[in-house]
Amino acid sequence: MRIPMIAGNWKMNTTVSEATELVNEMRLGLDEIDNVDKVICPPFISLATVRELIRRSSIKLGAQNIYFEEKGAYTGEISPLMLADLCEFVIIGHSERRQYFNETGKIINKKVQAALRVGLKPILCIGERLEENEAGKTKEVVTEQLESSLAGMEHLNGLTIAYEPVWAIGTGRAATGEQANDTIGLIRRTISQKYGKKIAQELRILYGGSVTADNTAEFMQQPEIDGALVGGASLNADQFLSIVRQTSEIKARLSAEN
Ligand code: PGA
Repeated sequence: MRIPMIAGNWKMNTTVSEATELVNEMRLGLDEIDNVDKVICPPFISLATVRELIRRSSIKLGAQNIYFEEKGAYTGEISPLMLADLCEFVIIGHSERRQYFNETGKIINKKVQAALRVGLKPILCIGERLEENEAGKTKEVVTEQLESSLAGMEHLNGLTIAYEPVWAIGTGRAATGEQANDTIGLIRRTISQKYGKKIAQELRILYGGSVTADNTAEFMQQPEIDGALVGGASLNADQFLSIVRQTSEIKARLSAEN
């Protein structure tokens, strides 16, 4: 049985004091909800503060990026070792990193491996752009991204994948539950062909792209979708809590039915 996950990607939002305020607004509510992994991913500079604030709660902490070298002369970068000390998860290969910071499959592959080496759990993002979707290339793009990001990896322990169609991120135009379920099913089959059925069945795969409290139910009712990576709506405590609560209820009901 896969444990659902809702991860909040705060992106480049919140000062340290705003992050503190936001955590304080959602902490008690989130802590009450079990059967879902609740992960918040604030900016690097707030990680240490947020870590203290959630220390006695069931909320988990993630970073939004990582560099692949462990230490050295890489001005401005944050290493896997530094993060492993602070948090459990790290988002890798987000489409904004691919688009604005030229991250290629090769770089993303190095980052995933570097994270796993120090025990950090990567949330690997993949997804097609609008023109690729319209040209019917979703399957091709997603398969290629999986192959390049996971090249040379023999196991996937600790990995979570987030399927995030680029056209749905921050646009208010989410995929439908059915579309997301289909592509996530395809991702799982691709993983199954390469790593075997057991690993594929155990792998957690999230949907991301304009998830809100209003459309969460549509996604969580789908059997292949194990949760969500939430951007904009994770900056609002009520919205985020509602997304986690609905996920908890729907997934508990689905697992009781099976
Ligand atoms: P969004 O972002 O929910 O604001 O669309 C999702 C993401 O980028 O992870």
